[in-house]
Amino acid sequence: MRILVIGSGGREHALIWKLKQSPKVDTIYCAPGNAGIAADAKCVAIEVDELEKLADFAQANQIDLTVVGPEAPLCDGIVDQFRTRKLAIFGPAKVAAQLEGSKDFAKEFMLKYHIPTAKSATFKNEKDASEYVKNEFLLGVKGIVIKADGLAAGKGVLVADGEAEALAFLHDCFDGAFGAAGAKVLVEECLYGEEASILALCDGKTIVPLVSSQDHKRVGDNDTGLNTGGMGAYSPAPVVDQQVWQKINERILQPFLHGVRAEKLDFRGVIFVGIMICDTEPKVLEFNVRFGDPEIQPVLRRFDGDLCDVLSKVAQGNLSEAKLIWSDDPAVSVVIASGGYPGKYQKGFEIKGLADAAATGAVVFHAGTALKDGKIVNSGGRVLGVSARGKNIAEAIAKAYEAVDKISFEGGFCRRDIGAKALKYNK
Ligand code: AMP
Ligand code: GLY
Repeated sequence: MRILVIGSGGREHALIWKLKQSPKVDTIYCAPGNAGIAADAKCVAIEVDELEKLADFAQANQIDLTVVGPEAPLCDGIVDQFRTRKLAIFGPAKVAAQLEGSKDFAKEFMLKYHIPTAKSATFKNEKDASEYVKNEFLLGVKGIVIKADGLAAGKGVLVADGEAEALAFLHDCFDGAFGAAGAKVLVEECLYGEEASILALCDGKTIVPLVSSQDHKRVGDNDTGLNTGGMGAYSPAPVVDQQVWQKINERILQPFLHGVRAEKLDFRGVIFVGIMICDTEPKVLEFNVRFGDPEIQPVLRRFDGDLCDVLSKVAQGNLSEAKLIWSDDPAVSVVIASGGYPGKYQKGFEIKGLADAAATGAVVFHAGTALKDGKIVNSGGRVLGVSARGKNIAEAIAKAYEAVDKISFEGGFCRRDIGAKALKYNK
């Protein structure tokens, strides 16, 4: 088979690394890819928002399956375009992608299908939203969450501890800080507990969860500092024990599938459910309609099946025939970021030690890397995802950091506590 993967991050590199192991796969293209992906796939200079060009490429190159990484092209309707041309593609159609593209749409869906989630209200003007926020604090809440309705590259959510902070963010939203994405705003009850990420394949008829994982969203050790796209992840997330899994399946995944069928949504892709586990009660924080990054990195390190076969079956609507094979061994992925991330950072520094890191047995996924004068340099905020699998979580963590410590570039840094939360469950 000839495969096209769309995107340029660690997620896409991990997908390509696993797809390449499938005996079914002949050639993999990636648009646009990065310096590390270029070693595993043929990179094509088409950006993820050039939908027409991507479809032309798939048609001209007889691509048998296209796998979409990021949310933006899904929300822009890439799946609809490809299907009109009878091109096989993994991902939800535009209407279904609103589950990520509009937080209001997602909330309505959750309410309609009785999926547990935080209480919230939606506003189209600052005055009403501000009054609601003030009233919530009068009623004694300790915090509140403000969410721009649309896609805002991960910056449209604020978990506010105080009223002033919440009101200032509301003002920014309605003042155009997120463009059209902030014209509607959700004000949400703040949930407290431990977060986990559940990714589940869905073809509209069947839903099959992948193994659980947990991200580390804050930039600093012990979950301090600013929010990021994710500084590292591990799988499984021990907070999701058998009892919690059962609740997630019965109260979230099955109602989700029921809703997809009832609304006749064309959903042949992956649903990524961000969950807060509040005293063993799982509640949905958000839906995403793509694989989580970095979550998919440790998840795929544990996947021992044929990814090409599985994703093809999802795209065809035959998920019930797919075989998912998992290792019990935990896996960890540690992100190395550019100095200054998630704020401003400098690019173009040579990355040293990549071969030494790979020699330890770890797999290094590239995110923000580029080739400059024959050298691999940093070119984005999150630069690499260094992943390892072990007999237990402690071994996986040790192996990942052994490889991390071989790698260096000016300003590059990582969190030193990826996976530490899982250790406490193993005592
Ligand atoms: P979202 O884009 O909705 O996932 O929000 C990004 C992050 O904000 C989540 O991963 C959580 O860490 C946090 N968050 C979102 N909603 C809530 C909530 N209702 N209560 C507490 N934290 C939240
Ligand atoms: N790691 C969180 C995300 O992919 O949105």
